[in-house]
Amino acid sequence: MATQQTPPGPTGLPLVGNTHQWARDPNAFRERCADEYGPVVNYELLGWDTYMVTDPAEIERILVEESDRFPKHDDSNSELKQIVGDGLITSEGDLWQRQREAIQPAFYMDHIREYADIMVSRSEEASARWNAGETVEMREEMTRLTLEILVDAMFGRDIDIAERGIYDAVEAFQKPMQPRYQPITFFAPDWTPLPFLRRANRAHDHLHKQIDEIIDTRRARRNRDGHDVDRDDLLSMLLDGDTEMRDTQIRDEMMTFLFAGHETTALSLTFTWDLLSRTPDVADRLRTELDETIDGRPTIEDVFELDYTEAVVNESMRLYPPAHEIRRQPAEDVEIAGYRVPEGSLLVLPTWVLHRDERYWDDPAAFRPERWLDTSDSESDRPEFAYFPFGGGPRHCIGHRFAMTEAQLVLATLAREWTLDRQYDDLSVTPAVTLQPTDDVEMVPHPR
Ligand code: HEM
Repeated sequence: MATQQTPPGPTGLPLVGNTHQWARDPNAFRERCADEYGPVVNYELLGWDTYMVTDPAEIERILVEESDRFPKHDDSNSELKQIVGDGLITSEGDLWQRQREAIQPAFYMDHIREYADIMVSRSEEASARWNAGETVEMREEMTRLTLEILVDAMFGRDIDIAERGIYDAVEAFQKPMQPRYQPITFFAPDWTPLPFLRRANRAHDHLHKQIDEIIDTRRARRNRDGHDVDRDDLLSMLLDGDTEMRDTQIRDEMMTFLFAGHETTALSLTFTWDLLSRTPDVADRLRTELDETIDGRPTIEDVFELDYTEAVVNESMRLYPPAHEIRRQPAEDVEIAGYRVPEGSLLVLPTWVLHRDERYWDDPAAFRPERWLDTSDSESDRPEFAYFPFGGGPRHCIGHRFAMTEAQLVLATLAREWTLDRQYDDLSVTPAVTLQPTDDVEMVPHPR
């Protein structure tokens, strides 16, 4: 260990380290660092001794092969815990293992089949809300739609999220994490009396209250009618599983799914609509596939046939991965690509950089779904961890299949009815907790 070197990296300033360079344009900073310094780059960010790794084989080692040596990053995890508590995404060790096993069945294929119907119904309702020629803000639209789908699928169709104020609460709660509020939020402790932070705190309490009520109602019904035989959503699994779970644990899991289970898919769909609006030949080919494959309403069987639609979603997540980086923390001093990385440091695995790396992608900036279909393509010998929008190893996204099915069914339902005209020129993005459009994404729908 003693002979290994600290990896190279950009020179920082006293106290702030490299934070000022990063803050100017975080994506450009990460790309430049990878270009100039190689597979492991050391910089200091917000006081954290940071190591960014861009070698796919080393990323695989960290996430998959030696995942025990690389738990989640403590400080980042604590921030998330303030929001969602001790749920699947933030817990570690035995608790995580138990919860993952208890929750996994909610994502088996027979359940995804049932969720597919919800995904289409809610997309049809969204379509009915749109008016020809009237501007819609796509991020907001996709957020509402994916939240409705998530709540129906995970907690039951009998919950009216508008009536219970769940949509407004989630929105108020997520606001401080959006780009336009980030610089203020970052420096403000959460007791600061800024109106949107006060609203976020109230929204947090409101969500807890709503979730407690939903759990109580379900428990009462279950005690009256016996086992929830007619239900197999996530909530019944949490209530009925072999593992007895405390109500606070169930609540933390529900908060976790409310947040992890819709925003990333909403972002991915928003970016996809943007990309389709600027590449008419791709949009045409997508609609041709939808018209040729789907007879009546889209179904899960159609999803198995929609190869080009799936390629569109994959390619959109390559260019705009909602989880733009994955963070870990070495549990001991480790060696990565020949360099020494100390215990307790922040390891950054930047999805954004790998997905746009010229070593693995021809013409990386181009939106070219075809690259996912052409198996003879030179790109087919690309290493597995040149593309990892859903992470990898034991902590990979439990909702991967749910999200892919959802993105395809939402696209299928809406793109068959509408074309969308972008009301802005460039799309600028900001890597906040997730990758966000910096400004509103306004589009005008026209019936086909
Ligand atoms: C396009 C959509 C999505 C993307 C890009 C995405 C991405 C990710 C990534 C990268 C991770 C791993 C994080 C890490 O290793 O630190 C993750 C974990 C997770 N995701 Fe997703 N996700 C998506 C949709 C969903 C959906 C629809 C659900 C639930 C319905 C979900 C629930 C979760 C949960 C609970 C975890 C934590 C799993 C664990 O640690 O055991 N995600 N997601």
